[in-house]
Amino acid sequence: MIPVIKNPHRGRLLIKGGRVIDPRQNLDQVTNILIENGKVLSIGHHLDTPANTPTLDATNSVVAPGLVDVHVHLREPGGEAKETIATGTRAAAAGGVTSVVSMPNTNPPMDNVADIQFVISRAAQEGMVRVYPTGTISKGRLGQELSEIGAMASVGCVAITDDGSEVMNSQLFRRALEYTKTFNLIVMDHCEDVNLMGDGVMNDGALATRLGLAGIPRQAEYTMVARNIALAELTGGRLHLTHMSVKESVELIRQAKAKGLHVTADVTPHHLILTEEAVQEYKSNAKVNPPLRTMEDVTALRKGLKEGVLDCVASDHAPHTQSEKLQEFSNAPFGLIGLETMLPLIITELVKPGYLTLSEMILRMSDLPARLFNLPAGTLEPGSNADIVIFDPEAKQTFTHFVSRSQNSPFLGWQLNGVVERTLVGGQTVYERSAASAKPHPSPL
Ligand code: DOR
Repeated sequence: MIPVIKNPHRGRLLIKGGRVIDPRQNLDQVTNILIENGKVLSIGHHLDTPANTPTLDATNSVVAPGLVDVHVHLREPGGEAKETIATGTRAAAAGGVTSVVSMPNTNPPMDNVADIQFVISRAAQEGMVRVYPTGTISKGRLGQELSEIGAMASVGCVAITDDGSEVMNSQLFRRALEYTKTFNLIVMDHCEDVNLMGDGVMNDGALATRLGLAGIPRQAEYTMVARNIALAELTGGRLHLTHMSVKESVELIRQAKAKGLHVTADVTPHHLILTEEAVQEYKSNAKVNPPLRTMEDVTALRKGLKEGVLDCVASDHAPHTQSEKLQEFSNAPFGLIGLETMLPLIITELVKPGYLTLSEMILRMSDLPARLFNLPAGTLEPGSNADIVIFDPEAKQTFTHFVSRSQNSPFLGWQLNGVVERTLVGGQTVYERSAASAKPHPSPL
């Protein structure tokens, strides 16, 4: 089921002279793309287009399939002060993200058909990009009883997850992995032993002791990664492990893949770039779950991504209001926003220093996440949706304000390479840099 786009572009549009990168087609060359009625019609140097075809000049820019972010909190219903489907998808468009998989830890949690239908219809009315909802694994996210999994799948839910917390009941998790096989649904898991986590608020270690804060041991994550992989092996179910943060998890996933299990994983830009040092001075915008870890973990996560042990990058865009984040560190909620910074962060911190090529970046931020979640996205092959990001990988920008309704980012004030110039969904421009910079504080929708 493809989310409805309000105004798919009618007629033709030519995107001319950009560096077109599409890993699925093994394409990286300066060329032209012709769009017709919201789909890619053809790619090539000499396209047969009438002289009056509307044209976008993409000289010196990269033209790629729009990013696909499989971990986004849109907060509607119940958290509209933090974000809505309208504001969150505007932030996505500004970040070059054209498909988002939305998390179900809303208030109330999304555990039934009506909830999934609500997201789909609200996104069709107000969304700027395509929204693919997930439902919870357990009713009410309480970890006791399975949600209406089959019914939710039948109306467009693409995965189930109790994200924000772990399903500690192993028998329930096993049943979820078994049951979802019938519907070809993914079980996406937040790996964290809630008892080991206790009241921890940052990485466990010397820094936590020095700051007088309770720590979350690395074992809280990787013991659950190990359990979940064991249950995926037992059931043959389809498991996706989200926001991996420690080196041991990478090794466990490497072994699971070597055995041929249906296990995939994602990692966030913040876990690939920041360490626990970012919470020094009690900076609550760097308070996130799982917590930022150590340089050894950052190195292992980068290597895991490069080698494909970690399949893709996902933002875990988790908006919270300023007043919530201004509370004392221990009481502030976990989470940071990431839709608008994911592309420039990966360009600046991983592409520029040579960890990834631009093509590998598009593979891990568009092509693969689309394939893992069976979404019609991630490529510019003729006939595919004209969901496109046009960006300048060299240009610099300093983030002083975000389109998102929330501003809780540890990257505020960072100067980064990589500027999204235009985002198209179904051939329709949903974000344009020049228009945005003329209005730095867009009015709420
Ligand atoms: O930091 C986080 N924030 N981690 C999660 O798993 C949930 C998220 C949220 O919903 O705020």
